Amino acid sequence: MRLRLSPRGVGTLLSKKTFQMMLMLLTVVLVAVVVGVGFLHFIFDALYRSVVKTEKPRWWRQFLCASESHHQPQPDTQNIITLTQIMRDVNPTRNDSNVFLVDTGCNSHPKYRAWCTVESWARQNPDLDVWFLLTSLTIDDSTGLVNHLLRQYKNLRVVGTNLDLLLRGTPVYHLFKSKKWMIEYTWPAQLLNDMVRVCVLWRWGGFYSDTDAMCTRTHTLPLNAVAFESESVIGTAVLTFTSQHPTLWKLMKAMDRNIIPGVYSIIGPVALTGLLDNLCGETEGSISSLYHKTPITSTCANLTIYPPLYFYPIRHQMSKEFFSAGAGAISFKEMFSSSYALHMWNFFSEDMVVRAGSESIYDQAAQFLCPIVYSRATLHSDVF
Ligand SMILES: *[C@@H]1O[C@H](CO)[C@@H](O)[C@H](O)[C@H]1NC(C)=O
Ligand SMILES: *[C@@H]1O[C@H](CO)[C@@H](O)[C@H](O)[C@H]1NC(C)=O
Repeated sequence: MRLRLSPRGVGTLLSKKTFQMMLMLLTVVLVAVVVGVGFLHFIFDALYRSVVKTEKPRWWRQFLCASESHHQPQPDTQNIITLTQIMRDVNPTRNDSNVFLVDTGCNSHPKYRAWCTVESWARQNPDLDVWFLLTSLTIDDSTGLVNHLLRQYKNLRVVGTNLDLLLRGTPVYHLFKSKKWMIEYTWPAQLLNDMVRVCVLWRWGGFYSDTDAMCTRTHTLPLNAVAFESESVIGTAVLTFTSQHPTLWKLMKAMDRNIIPGVYSIIGPVALTGLLDNLCGETEGSISSLYHKTPITSTCANLTIYPPLYFYPIRHQMSKEFFSAGAGAISFKEMFSSSYALHMWNFFSEDMVVRAGSESIYDQAAQFLCPIVYSRATLHSDVF
């Protein structure tokens, strides 16, 4: 009776054995899968690391950053801000409501004067998004100034820029890729800046300002405005355009076509003035003949040309005036009431210092237009 195995008993016995075998098999398979996945993960991880490690720095960044290597932050330094990147992490959300400021020099330490300009635009234009574009990947904020500005001005964005992505698809991309600007010129960062400013205005519209052109008031000028910087030259240090403006596209084409090695501002004011002469010369007369008729709206280029007072109240030959003690008490008020921006001509005035409390035009303007930067810049020093 004990030996009698009921079919059910055999079934149970078999299924018990099968079950054990299946359990073992399953365990083996599971272990194999876990080991396999771990191994594959290890392989892919190693591959990924080797690719990332050996990825060459972008050629243009390598070039731009070479001269800045002494400014590169130490890896263990505190307060390094890794910048979010425009067009990768963040994009302007509104057309024509932007202010763009650009540093193409791979600079991780923009000077107080540049930050003063940035603050002046953010402070005077709370309704505009102010974008400070840099080619550096990081900002060294050991003084805490940048974080202070970002906390204070919610409309301010400080972002890194991939030039390849930004310029691609526009007529200056060809010029950028040709490397002419870095091989044949003394001012490569300046030329890049000339390309970038037109490109960002074409893409998103709004204002462009050099980092040495303080904003004196909330902007009420209609867009599509430029100004004479002298009797015969239209400046490009401050520009306002609606996005996709046809004249900007033509300007980028002219920049690519007409670049001549060794000529300063050849793709800046020279290109813009030349283009307007070409577009309007026949119908409206040469650009210099329009000087005494400003402000004048030019239908052939769809823009308004203003007199120098609007953005360039002091000529570059006279840029010393911004720094001369006492001059601010008289001139600044006057300028403030009639100018929209004060272009300081950094190219000519870089070596002149702003002396705190000297009541120079610069000193007065900075106290008034960029109070946060002014107090930081003068905290431990009388000059900046
Ligand atoms: C800006 O304008 C362009 C062209 O009209 C359009 O394609 C784009 O979507 C607009 N972008 C925003 C953020 O409004
Ligand atoms: C000027 O603007 C008008 C209307 O937006 C457009 O049709 C024309 O092509 C523009 N002209 C130039 C030269 O950009």
